[in-house]
Amino acid sequence: MKLAIHHRNGSFSKRWIEYCKEQGVPYKLVNCYDSDIIEQMYDCDGLMWHFHQGDPRDVLFAKQLMFSLHTAGKKVFPDPNTCWHFDDKVGQMYLLRAVDAPLVPSYVFYERKAALNWADQATFPKVFKLRRGSGSDHVKLITDSAMAKKMIRKAFGKGFSQYDAGANLKERWRRYKLGQINTTDLAKGVVRLGYTTEFAKTIGNEKGYVYFQDFVAGNDHDIRVNVVDGKAFAVKRGVRENDFRASGSGFPYFEKHHFTDEVIKRALETTKKLKMQSVAYDFLKRGDTYLISEISYGFCDMTRKCIGYWDEELNWHEESFYEEDWMVDAMVREITKSERVLSTEL
Ligand SMILES: Nc1ncnc2c1ncn2[C@@H]1O[C@H](COP(=O)(O)OP(=O)(O)O)[C@@H](O)[C@H]1O
Ligand SMILES: [Mg+2]
Repeated sequence: MKLAIHHRNGSFSKRWIEYCKEQGVPYKLVNCYDSDIIEQMYDCDGLMWHFHQGDPRDVLFAKQLMFSLHTAGKKVFPDPNTCWHFDDKVGQMYLLRAVDAPLVPSYVFYERKAALNWADQATFPKVFKLRRGSGSDHVKLITDSAMAKKMIRKAFGKGFSQYDAGANLKERWRRYKLGQINTTDLAKGVVRLGYTTEFAKTIGNEKGYVYFQDFVAGNDHDIRVNVVDGKAFAVKRGVRENDFRASGSGFPYFEKHHFTDEVIKRALETTKKLKMQSVAYDFLKRGDTYLISEISYGFCDMTRKCIGYWDEELNWHEESFYEEDWMVDAMVREITKSERVLSTEL
């Protein structure tokens, strides 16, 4: 049994490697960007790679690589169920509806005329989103039909750049005032007013579709629940000042009393339906119920500050943990299981 791990600074892999060393799990480091990555995998049973939505190279081929290895019988993290819809809110809409998960009511159009007709009779406010993006980058409140139509015309015209220089600078200024970033980071936003990012250039504009959700009013936070290998942990994220968006705000809360059993149960149950190895849900509360606004297999290390987790029976375990360890445990378990099946078949 041997794992292959692709290391990226600031990703799950730092702890994956530490944990393998601690537990004596055989592993080797591989470079997924190498042309012979498939050959590098010959002596390994599984590959773990925390690829990122913001790296244009990863967007170009990470899923293709993982799915190819999966087809060839290797175990991979993330596997196809876990990541085919990564950074694709429209894909997630189909998936969540198909498994009857509680998604915020959502609307997608691939034709300008149909979208404009919808905008004529829809009620507002709505929330506009691009398929891709994180940290609330491409999430906007649409207050009326005229504003919706403007977005629709743009979606079926020149489209939306992945990099909104004005919004980026505004966000940097907000974070600078809060002391979350330094002057150099702020200055980068000013410099970038003049040109776009490598990512935006490689990926191109988002266009040819338009996606809206009902605005779930009355939430001064969202509830991020993560599930890895049957264990759930959560962060409550406050919204920005004079804004409705929590993602990327930098206002996290970790105490257990912020989370109801219902929202944790909902996350655990939905994960079983989605068959995901790792998932982060963004929940919004509407009346007595929690609705999902988006999902993601990858997330940042803010969870390091979680003070405990729930198991599948909703028992609370107040102890520190590394969810990355659970990812490795699940991979090792899967590989060992298929080795056992193979040996009984022989
Ligand atoms: N339909 C909605 N109604 C109300 N608020 C929303 C809705 N969708 C998202 N939000 C808020 O906007 C934030 C960003 O939206 P999200 O879809 O999670 O995008 P991102 O991928 O940038 O995190 C969320 O954290 C939430 O606070
Ligand atoms: Mg989000």
